[in-house]
Amino acid sequence: MSRSERKWDHIRYALETGQKRSTAFDDIQFIHQSLPNINVSDVRLHQKIGELSLSSPIFINAMTGGGGEKTYMLNKQLAIVAKEAGLAMAVGSQMSALKDKSERYTYEVVRKENPSGVLIANLGSEATPEQAKIAVEMIEANALQVHLNVIQELTMPEGDREFSGALKRIEGIVNELSVPVIVKEVGFGMSKETVGLLSSVGVSSVDVGGYGGTNFAEIENKRSDVAQFFFNQWGIPTAISICEAAQASRVPIIGSGGFTSSIDIAKGLALGASATGFAGYFLKILVEEGIDSLNEEISSLHYGLKIIMTALGAKSIRDLQGAPIIISGQMHHWLTQRGID
Ligand code: FNR
Repeated sequence: MSRSERKWDHIRYALETGQKRSTAFDDIQFIHQSLPNINVSDVRLHQKIGELSLSSPIFINAMTGGGGEKTYMLNKQLAIVAKEAGLAMAVGSQMSALKDKSERYTYEVVRKENPSGVLIANLGSEATPEQAKIAVEMIEANALQVHLNVIQELTMPEGDREFSGALKRIEGIVNELSVPVIVKEVGFGMSKETVGLLSSVGVSSVDVGGYGGTNFAEIENKRSDVAQFFFNQWGIPTAISICEAAQASRVPIIGSGGFTSSIDIAKGLALGASATGFAGYFLKILVEEGIDSLNEEISSLHYGLKIIMTALGAKSIRDLQGAPIIISGQMHHWLTQRGID
């Protein structure tokens, strides 16, 4: 099976398996305030992650790897949405376009469609600094994402079995690149140990890519005759992973994994995330309902976030990051056992 066929399988199964697990956001509650003393029109959604200036804390996360016509079409449509809604956008893994130059147009289209937007390149941790530079140049990217997907690889019969040296390679990329380097998971979350190591080699930010949304163990198991079902429930729920990351380091945190609503965005930001990434949920709306529906959903997420921030008296994302919350249930147990306050 070709890389582009495999990636199309991912999209099909991601749409089927959906976002049905627990991100742990249900264990968090905001504390109601009856005198917020602000107006909806006072609320601003602008945000900075290190050097990146964003007009919204929502961004479109990586989904379009593999190359081929389908990648081209999805990248084009997502770039149109990103431009219209003013969102940053990451492309999927560009490895196929590094191996085969004729695939480059499938990624270059995002810069054509969105000449002045914030675009993020994407490669795995097997990449060399040279490959990382080419990926960034290909779309004139404002940043690079390096993805970590050990569980996905281990679940695939044809996946990688060698993971040593990844941190060293990431350090090499950080040292050689002139744009910020974001290291991300793909739905299994990051622990404080992982974030501590990444921060020690100077990454610009981490995207926790937590458990609760797209499940690459389940997706790969659906494609395989030798399923590794024990990985289906493996991972750190997104809300918990944001706390793990915040405990480990002051490096800016991006929350992602299973986001589908304004209230979860607000909770992710209140836990200390600087932005929230959406992948499977946006993909489903785009593929099943089209560009206009996705634009409407993004407007509705922005409006929902603004009214939640108003209720909390938070005029800016920075204000929201300090909003008081109560944590209960499984999340409370987890944080207590891990010594995270
Ligand atoms: C992804 N994701 C992903 N991530 C990455 O770094 N490089 C990639 O090429 C891809 N490819 C990809 C394809 C498809 C179809 C999906 C749905 C997702 C992972 C994605 O960026 C994100 O980390 C996870 O999907 C978790 O977020 P959601 O989907 O729960 O919002």
